[in-house]
Parts: sequence; structure tokens; C-alpha cells
Amino acid sequence: MPKNHTYVLGINAYDHDVSACLLRDGEIAYAITKERLSREKHDTGFFDSVVDYCLEAEGISLEEVDLVVRNCYVLPVDEMEKRMIHEDLPEIMGGAREKVMSHPLYLPSSNKVVTISHHLAHAYSAFAVSPYQEGAVMVTDGVGSYCADVTEPYPESSKAHPLARESESYYKFSGSNLETVKKVWMGPSRGFLSDEFFNMEGLGAVYSRVSSYIFGDWNKCGEVMGLAPYGRPNRIKPMVKLENGELETVEWGREFNQPFQAEGRQVWEKSPSMSHWEDVAWQVQDDTERVLIKRAIWLRETTGAKHLTIAGGVGLNCVANGRILREAGFDEVWVQPAAGDDGIAIGCAYYGYLAILNKPRTFVQKHSCLGKEYKQGDVEGAISRPSIKMQINIKRSDDICAESAKLLSEGNIFGWFQGGSEFGPRALGNRSILADPRKPEMKDILNSRVKFRQPFRPFAPIVLYERAEEIFEGKGDSPFMLIVKPVKPEWQDRIPAIVHVDGTARIQTVREDINPRLYRLLKEFDRLTGVPVLLNTSFNVKGEPIVETPIEAVDCFLATGMDYLAIHDTLIGKSQLHKMVAPLKKAFWDGFKRGATPS
Ligand SMILES: [Fe+2]
Repeated sequence: MPKNHTYVLGINAYDHDVSACLLRDGEIAYAITKERLSREKHDTGFFDSVVDYCLEAEGISLEEVDLVVRNCYVLPVDEMEKRMIHEDLPEIMGGAREKVMSHPLYLPSSNKVVTISHHLAHAYSAFAVSPYQEGAVMVTDGVGSYCADVTEPYPESSKAHPLARESESYYKFSGSNLETVKKVWMGPSRGFLSDEFFNMEGLGAVYSRVSSYIFGDWNKCGEVMGLAPYGRPNRIKPMVKLENGELETVEWGREFNQPFQAEGRQVWEKSPSMSHWEDVAWQVQDDTERVLIKRAIWLRETTGAKHLTIAGGVGLNCVANGRILREAGFDEVWVQPAAGDDGIAIGCAYYGYLAILNKPRTFVQKHSCLGKEYKQGDVEGAISRPSIKMQINIKRSDDICAESAKLLSEGNIFGWFQGGSEFGPRALGNRSILADPRKPEMKDILNSRVKFRQPFRPFAPIVLYERAEEIFEGKGDSPFMLIVKPVKPEWQDRIPAIVHVDGTARIQTVREDINPRLYRLLKEFDRLTGVPVLLNTSFNVKGEPIVETPIEAVDCFLATGMDYLAIHDTLIGKSQLHKMVAPLKKAFWDGFKRGATPS
């Protein structure tokens, strides 16, 4: 039987945030990150689970895929796989060497499987799905491919040592054509792999180094950004700056002598180093914004582009994105919502479709809800489990938006599960926890009952698209919660739970044609309260990935202090039995943990 569609599969292989993206005739059919399936944050290793997820959702086999394009920033994927045979890498092989080695995508002989380099994949994830036919691309991250492994042509002036690593890449595009304008490398360096960016002299690398310094984890850059406004300006010397277009990083000297001891018994929130960490966060954020704005202005002047697209992990810095939008002189800025390495799968897939299969660009990514939709049967299965059924009240709602809006306006905290899951780090209204932003104490209530995260971290708002400019400064859509805007003074007291300490908010605008159910929920809340804004945070608890399935949503709902859970049209509350049992259960587990932890 002839095949009806052209399928291309993109894979971010083996490094952190392993992911897959399936294109059907040039449109994203499905995309998923491994952590959502394995429940391990930023999960690494083999990619069979994410490939199977996409193929099963589409109802096709691997044989029906026309082209597979992969990237691993560490090494070209085939070289990585040869090393995995040689070395015992349980964290990469997932403890299942035989299974991995017998998979058709492991060291494949087929010419249908291609490897590309890292920043090239990031670049395709930005421009290929952007709304623009012409423009510029800015890719900045912690570390990309070795110079020797780069698969894109680039100017002679950007030539570097074979062991230099990608740090920043700048491009211009027209239709499907991408041209490299400039590449900025980190020079070959010595050190231990576990140095967590200590010896890498790049823009994103220095930011990750600060994350390691403050949080003991290079991948807490979002927390560094959230901590920055608490710091005092210019208490630390600049860590990274541009001099005549050249990036300069300072030596990590004796003033950085208070690293968080992640392995010790130090309580982060109570550390005597807090004020110092806040100052360091302020400085690296300010340095990064200054460099990015200068680079963006240079890119606009060099290319003449009116539109800028952004990808790479630094693209998740929504404070910097807001400043680039306001200060770099582009008409519009579009940021790939999966700007980190999960988005590599999208870029690989589009490189295959546009550059290898030579198909035209036809798709614009208007939302990031790229997971599969769960059936009502899956919901019934999740709530009819005997141990669960007795803990919940279930109601099939005729108007889930109106009913939920009323309960939200009465101060209840909601789990909101609709449609396919979001691809990327942000929950954008399909796997969200929602609350009333009008109460100043809501942030503390959410933290103490549900999220259990550090109090300095802000919560973000969703807002009706048409009303955004009435409440937040500046023009422009922000559908992916990747732009920070100042909250207008007259609104700061009306929605205090989503205003950060510096008077800003990381906003998500909601349009009726993109997410009609979320839009109607906001409309109903506005009708009741006069406020077209809700607090939106991801449907998970600290340290865990966002929920993917109805079962995970119900379990998270019962394990935390959420009041209601809406899954599709089913409204779920907590029974009297749960309210009696939950405190006893919590006391038991708290006691167990205390007993298990030496004091
Ligand atoms: Fe990257």
C-alpha cells in the first residue's frame, strides 16, 4: 500500500534532555522529552522510549519513517555509540546494553539516519518554525559541538581549533535557506568533566558556572535568573563582557569562595552566603543581558534583518529576551519554546525535512502542546483505581471553565490537565497548576501546600491576549512565557501573587484560536473578578518532571495540597476520607524520613 505521508524523525540523543520529534508532511505531529516518560528530570541516555511514544501516537512503525536526523552535543552520534560499546556507561545505556545494541537506530547502517551538529540543530528549531520568511537567528548555549564535528559551512573568519567548542552562533535566513554569519567558540580547555563549566570561557558556560556555584547544579539557570533581582548592583566585578566584539571572561578569583556544598548538610535557604549569592546572580544576569543586547544589535546591523529568532539554552533567559525585544531594534522576536536541548529534536527534524529532503517551509509553531492526547478511558482508569476512588469526589461538568473559574475565584488551587502535554520546560495551560493571583499570600500558600520550592522564585501569570497591554508594559505577544515585562503600577496591587520583587512578570498571553479552553477559563474568571489573569505554574512538585499522564496527575493531586483537579470535563475534589487520611499519612512519612536521616 502506498504511503500517504512523509515522515521525518528528529532525536536529541544521549545527552541531557533526550527527546524526539516526529514531522508529518513538514508539520510537528508529536514531540516528547524522555523525562516525562521516565520521571527523571533532564533524563539522558538511549532514546527508544521517546521514539516509540511518537511512533505509537501516530500509529506508524519505524520502517515508515523516511529520514531520521540526530544530534548529541558531546560527540557525533555514531562515534558516541562506538564508545558506548567500548566503555561501560550504565547511565547512557540505561542498564540495558543488549536491548540498546539490538535497536535498529543503534549504530545503524541505513543511509536514512543522519547526524548533524549542535548549533545547526538549535538554529533550525528557531527559524524553521517561526512566523517569518526572512530574518536572523541567534543561538547561545552552555556548550555545543567540537569545531571538528560542525556540519554547517561557516565563514573563514570564524575558523577555530578543531577542539574548540560551539558557544554562540549567528545566522541569517530566507525561506528555507540558512547562512552562517559568525561563530563564537570556547577554546580547547583542560579539566575534569565534572567541573561543571568551570573551565569553559563562554557566555552560557559562565552562567551555568554561576548556577553550579550557587545551587550546586549547572542546570539551575532559571533559579539564578529568579534570584538576580534580590542582589545588589555591581558588588561583584563583571564576569563576562564584550570588548570590541570579543567576548572576555574574568578569571574565577578568590572572591568566589563561597560555593554551595551540595553534598553536605548545608540548608540552602539558611546559608550565610545568601547575600553574596544574590549579588553574584545579579552580576551574571546583568553581564549576560549586556552581551546579548550588543550581539543582537550587531546581528541586526550586519544582516539588515527585521525579525530575530532565538534558540539555545540561553534563550530561556526570559528577562534578557524582554530586553532584546525592547532594546535591540528588531520589529519582532520569536523564541523557540523548547530553546534548551530538548528542542534539538525539532531542529534535527526540520533540518531533515528542509535541507535534506528539500521540502518547502509551510509550518508555523503557534503552540507547544505537542504531546499525545489521552482518551477519556485513560482518565476513567486513573480515577477508578480502588485505592484512589475512595479518596476523591468525581463530577462530570457541563461547563468545566465556568465551574473552575468560580472555584478559583474562591481561592481554591487547581490542577488543570487538558489536551497534549507541553514540549519544553514551561507548562502553558495543558499541564498547569492554577490559582487566583489577587491574594498576596497565594505564593506562600502554593509553596507550602503544593510546590515546596524556594520562596524567592516568582510565579508567572497567564493573561487574555487582548488585555495584556492594559496590564503589562510593552507591546508584543508572549505565547510561550519567554518574555518578561514590567507590571503596570496600577495593576501591581491587584495581582500581587504574580509580581516579582522587581515589579516584573514572565507573562504568557492566551489567544482564543490557540487554546480555546484556557482562553474561556480566563474569560470566566475575568467575568467574575474583573481580572483577566491567573497564576500559572507547572503541574509537578519540586524536583519532579511535569506530569504526563492522567494517573500521574491524579497521584500528584492527592499527594499535594491542591483543592481540585480538572481533567478534560471531569472535575475531581477530595473526599472526607482523604482529608482524614492525608495528614496521618504525611505525619507517618515525615517521621519515617526523620528516622531514616541521621541528625
Ligand atoms: Fe544546546
